[in-house]
Amino acid sequence: MPIVITGASGKLGRLVIQQLLKHVPPAEIVACIRNMEHKHNFKKLGVAVRCCDYDQPDSLKQAFLGASSLLFISSPHHDDDVRMLQHTRVIEAAQQAGAGHLLYTSFAFPEDGTISLTRLHAATERAVRSSGIPYTIFRHALYTDFVEILDLQTTMATGVLRVQPGDWRFNSVARLDLAAAIAMTLASPGHEHHTYELTAPKAWTFEELAAALSELGSKPVSVVQDAELQHWMFGFLRSINTSSTTGDLERLMDRPATTLKESIRHWALPS
Ligand SMILES: NC(=O)c1ccc[n+]([C@@H]2O[C@H](COP(=O)([O-])OP(=O)(O)OC[C@H]3O[C@@H](n4cnc5c(N)ncnc54)[C@H](OP(=O)(O)O)[C@@H]3O)[C@@H](O)[C@H]2O)c1
Repeated sequence: MPIVITGASGKLGRLVIQQLLKHVPPAEIVACIRNMEHKHNFKKLGVAVRCCDYDQPDSLKQAFLGASSLLFISSPHHDDDVRMLQHTRVIEAAQQAGAGHLLYTSFAFPEDGTISLTRLHAATERAVRSSGIPYTIFRHALYTDFVEILDLQTTMATGVLRVQPGDWRFNSVARLDLAAAIAMTLASPGHEHHTYELTAPKAWTFEELAAALSELGSKPVSVVQDAELQHWMFGFLRSINTSSTTGDLERLMDRPATTLKESIRHWALPS
């Protein structure tokens, strides 16, 4: 009975498979992808491939047949109405295919959010919970990738980290850590009907980010709060819960979370 993974060609999906291969043989894994041109990347790992397109309902039931566990990675579609339709189709197909366990990647603290994105995840969670399939919900905090918008290389060159005023705190996470936690969950029993808030164990501040950049570079970096600074991201950050934390991520991974300094290295010092 295979572990079936949707969104397998994406950044998170690929990392989940890489991590899962540490725990189970490749023959137990099925990668569901939309574009079969990518199938060779999985076949060379010994992982089976099935076609699955959230916009093609007929593909979904076939893709999920025989799944002991189905990891449903949320759609990246920019329109949340379309995403909800896609998510509904996936859950219905999981029921029709008789999936034994449905695991969904949601968003952290969706009840605290005030935007369409958090409503979408809350609604999908309700649909997962009422599907009748034993479920696990992984509520992902913001990926630490969001620091990309701060242009860390310029920040390191100028020594100034410019941000909008506010008491900012971030519970963000590295995708690799999320993948490790998901893989551990897929490979071990006892996670049915659990909802995990996968956040950093401790929220970080812009001052801590500046300190990490100072260590990575050759110049001290300091934070400047600038009320004139315009970027849509700050409005987004204000409309979600970026500060609450839990120990769920480290508990599931059974190791410490990646440090802020290591998480941002890629954006601060691209190879
Ligand atoms: N917590 C956060 O901060 C955060 C940030 C970004 C995204 N997310 C969510 O987390 C998910 C995974 O992130 P990621 O970084 O792995 O995203 P990603 O690299 O964009 O991967 C998205 C995956 O979804 C697949 N996909 C897109 N449309 C599909 C469709 N109609 N049917 C089937 N598969 C489809 C893509 O397939 P193709 O290769 O064919 O395009 C790809 O495998 C995203 O989809 C998004 O919902 C969360």
